[in-house]
Formats: sequence, structure tokens, C-alpha cells
Amino acid sequence: MVWPARFLARELPTGGGRGAFSVESRERATTMADPGGGWCWGVDRQLEIYKAGLAGQTPVQPVSVDALEETARSVLSPEAFDYVAGGAGAEETMRANREAFRRRRLVPRFLRDVARRDLGVELLGRKLPVPVLLAPLGVLSIVHKEAELAVARAAAPLGIPLILSTVSSLPMEQVAAAMGEAPRWFQLYWPRSDELAASLLGRAERAGFDAIVVTLDTYLLSWRERDIQNAYLPFVRGEGLANYVTDPVFQAALGGDPRLNPVRTIELFARIFSDPSRTWDDLGRLRQATRLPILVKGVLHPDDARKALDQGASGVIVSNHGGRQLDGAIAALDALPRIVDAVGDRTTVLFDSGIRRGADVLKAMALGARSVLLGRPYAYGLAAGGADGVREVLLNLISDIDLTLGLAGHASFADLDRSCLMEASG
Ligand SMILES: Cc1cc2nc3c(=O)[nH]c(=O)nc-3n(C[C@H](O)[C@H](O)[C@H](O)COP(=O)(O)O)c2cc1C
Repeated sequence: MVWPARFLARELPTGGGRGAFSVESRERATTMADPGGGWCWGVDRQLEIYKAGLAGQTPVQPVSVDALEETARSVLSPEAFDYVAGGAGAEETMRANREAFRRRRLVPRFLRDVARRDLGVELLGRKLPVPVLLAPLGVLSIVHKEAELAVARAAAPLGIPLILSTVSSLPMEQVAAAMGEAPRWFQLYWPRSDELAASLLGRAERAGFDAIVVTLDTYLLSWRERDIQNAYLPFVRGEGLANYVTDPVFQAALGGDPRLNPVRTIELFARIFSDPSRTWDDLGRLRQATRLPILVKGVLHPDDARKALDQGASGVIVSNHGGRQLDGAIAALDALPRIVDAVGDRTTVLFDSGIRRGADVLKAMALGARSVLLGRPYAYGLAAGGADGVREVLLNLISDIDLTLGLAGHASFADLDRSCLMEASG
């Protein structure tokens, strides 16, 4: 076996314990934004880990997302854990998301020179080192005290775009300031007030966000049995309101300082958060309110994808919100090929809901996604280890993508298509 020269040049880690190799990961992370150099990510990281094992070190946190979820369960309050891990109703759609991945299997091809692998993709005119973005996850203060700042610190050096939620725990400007020039998008929960929407969009533009993601599927909050049982919703406790309480339009509507009026602040938020009466025509008007590209998130039907494009959207994100909204809805992966067939040649189609490993990323890309959004796994990493925990999750995923791409017989995502997949019979 040929070991990369730069790997051999390193010293064996000294001392026992856990996690020394993550320092090397951090060092290398600075080169990740340059996709040209990252041809052996998976091999490097594997060897780094196995070499650390010679000194008695094992990874700082569980590598498998299922095991990491259990770590999150052990460190979070039961209510916070259920809020993150749970879904709508009987969680049928949450399970269906994973089953849809299991049903599809990769068909490997051999002897095709995959020694140099390029994981990069182009998205909205920008080259990404890997086809992965961080999905908008609200109220991360319930997961870790550094919340979105920790996520931003992990994502930025890797060049992985963070999609910041409207209901982030910290104001968008503060998170943006921690990211320098690193790519970031802003997710909009489309408020009842057009004025507030315009204000949030204007702030996102000024804070250097590159695109707007309008989430379509959360105009009502679903019946989430775990949260109902726990009588727990973070917003009602004042969490996740940072972008509202710092907004001049929201403040004017409140008619006072939000800090002095917590109850009225929460009531106003609840009233203004969404508007179930919106229609596709409204999207056309929202389109006029920003110069940034708009992508719509939550699309599951080809006709809705077409309608979004007709109203000027620059892309669609196929998603069922990780099974957190309409229980009984189809798996997002099952919706993907039909939507790609309907609009894939005209626009960018992204995907989330159920991405856990490298093979999942390949399957979604083979079905026509341009990139995927990672959701719950990075929240579990955040719970386990703050920014370092998120970084570990990302480095593991990147390594897994790299090796899985190579083992499937592909040197890049360019030649991945549906012929790389087979539907399993049982
Ligand atoms: C704790 C949590 C908070 C979320 N908050 C938001 C949000 O604020 N805005 C949004 O568009 N989607 C939100 N989502 C949905 C994610 O963006 C994404 O669609 C989902 O996590 C994908 O499913 P997966 O994590 O099972 O892969 C949230 C999901 C979770 C788990």
C-alpha cells in the first residue's frame, strides 16, 4: 500500500486518550476550501485515525450517526433532545426517509482510474469543495451554548455553506461576522408582514449572505407528539427569536424594547411568524424584494417545482423537513427523481431529509441532486462537542463521501446518474 508522503512525514501522536488526530484535521481544514488539493481526503483521514489507534487513541465522539444521536441524548435535556430528534405524528415520514435510502443500492464499477477524485461541484456560480451544505436548524441554543456560532466556526474553514435559520439563536449579523468571506445562505420563514420580510431580506443582503432559502412547508407547525407530550416549544420560552428582536420592523410593531416585554414579544412572534393564506403569486412579489437568488425548500411535487420556477425561483430544495411537518408524506428521496425530470434541466435541485452517510450523498446525487443539505447529524455533533463536534461530523462525512465515490467507481460527481443505482427488491 502506498501511503501519501505527507502522511508518512508526520509523527505518531504521543500519549493515550481520545481525539488527538482532530488537531491534524483542523490544520488541513484550511486547505479544504481549495477543492483542487483534496484528492485523498478519505485515505488521509482513515490513516490518521488508524495511526492514532497505535497510540491508544480512538475518535473523540461516535462516528456512526446513530451512536452520536445517543451521545446527544445523554447530554441534552430530554425536551431539547426530543425537539431535535423527533418528527411529526407517528414519525412515519421520518422513518420513510431512511427506508427510501435503504431501498436503493449503489452498483459499483471497476478499473476506471479513480486515483484522483474531485468532490467539488458548482452551485449558483460558486465552486464548493463537496456537494454538502448545512441545513437550516433553528434554536441551536438548546443544543449548545455557542449555538450557531460554533456551527459557523466549523463550517467556514471547510468552505461548506451554512444556511442560517430565521429562528437562529443569534442575530444573522453576528453569525455572518464570524464567517468572514465563507459562503452562507439565509433561510426565511416567510412572515405575515411583507415589511418584516423585506427587512429580514435586506439585513441578509447587507450581512453578505449569498442566497435566500424560503421554506414553504412550515406555515403551520405540525402536531409533534413528543413536543406536545413534553409541553415544550423553544420559541414560547423566548429561544430562537434573535432575528426578530433585533429587527427594526419587529421592534416598531412591538412598540417597545423586546427585552422589557418578553410576553408581548413572544405573542407578536407567534402572530407574525407565518401566513397560511399565501399563494404562488406572493412568491413572485417576494422575488422582487431581494436581489439575491431565491430557492424554495420543502418541494415534493413536480408541479410545485415548476410553479416555483415560474415565479422566478433560482432553485428548489426537495425536502420534507426531516419528517417534522406532514406525517404520512412521501419520503423526500422518492420525490427527487420526478422533480429532477420536471425541472432539473432548468434549475438547481438540492435535496435533504435523511442524509446520514457518504452513500446517501451519492444516491441523492445519482438521482439528480446538485448538492445535499446535512441536518440532524451536525446538531448531534454540536451537542457532543460544540464547534469541534460539528467539525468531526463534517470531516467524517467528507472522508466517507470521498471513499464511497471512489469505491463506486467514480472520480467525480459529473458521471454519476441513475444507472449507478438499483432498487432493491426486499
Ligand atoms: C432541530 C431542527 C430544527 C430545524 N429548523 C429548521 C428551520 O429553522 N428552518 C428550516 O427551513 N428547516 C428547519 N429544519 C429542517 C432542516 O432544515 C432539514 O430539512 C431536516 O433536518 C432534514 O432532515 P434530516 O435532518 O433528518 O436529514 C430543522 C430541523 C431540525 C431537526
